[in-house]
Amino acid sequence: MRTKYAAGNWKMNMTFEEGQILFSEVTNMVKDEVVNPNVKVVMGVPAPYLSSFSKLINTDKVSIAAQNCYPKASGAYTGEVSVPMLKSAGVEYVIIGHSERREYFNETDQFIAEKVDAILAEGLTPIFCCGETLGQREEGIHFDFVKGQLTNSLFHLDADAVQKVVIAYEPIWAIGTGVTASSEQAQEMHKVLRDHLASKYGQEVADNISILYGGSVKAGNAPELFSQPDIDGGLVGGASLDSRGFTDIAKSF
Ligand code: 13P
Repeated sequence: MRTKYAAGNWKMNMTFEEGQILFSEVTNMVKDEVVNPNVKVVMGVPAPYLSSFSKLINTDKVSIAAQNCYPKASGAYTGEVSVPMLKSAGVEYVIIGHSERREYFNETDQFIAEKVDAILAEGLTPIFCCGETLGQREEGIHFDFVKGQLTNSLFHLDADAVQKVVIAYEPIWAIGTGVTASSEQAQEMHKVLRDHLASKYGQEVADNISILYGGSVKAGNAPELFSQPDIDGGLVGGASLDSRGFTDIAKSF
């Protein structure tokens, strides 16, 4: 049985105090309410809050994620944060390859592959984001494009390592737009990606890899999305900034 995820990506939102309240509320609700025991709740918070918020976690159902990392372990890289630093702050997951980082910070598949290696080397879990633009979907090249993102950033890994990666499919046209991919569209892509993983690593390995959907996930659409056979949860942006709504998403399995 693959692990199911309700993963929040706060992006660049929340002051320290606002975030502390939100983070505590979620971890308390997840602890006290009935959440499927196979579900992991992950909150991706701004880097300056990681160390402090990781101490607020009061249940093993909740983990904290960073939204980025730099692939070198240490050194003269002013302003960057390494994976050993994240680990020492209590971080278990690192979101990488988000379309916003690919677009605004020119991150390439190769650079993201280096981050994957750095994260796995420290025993942390990468949440590897991929996804096509609307133009690519309209051109009909979306399947090949997203498969290529996996090939370029993950397929250097051996079968043991690739199973430690969580994949998040986030069609760019569905991020922050209120337009969700239909559950059929999402399932179709997730199946294509799982088949792609199976073609390289075999079906058993592919069946062990959690593939999340991201893009305007809300409590209202989560149950239908998460009931699809190849959708193992969500990477949630806007709706993760509301403790009740995000906890309800975690209870949608
Ligand atoms: P929204 O849920 O706000 O569409 O954002 C999705 C996302 O980018 C999560 O990483």
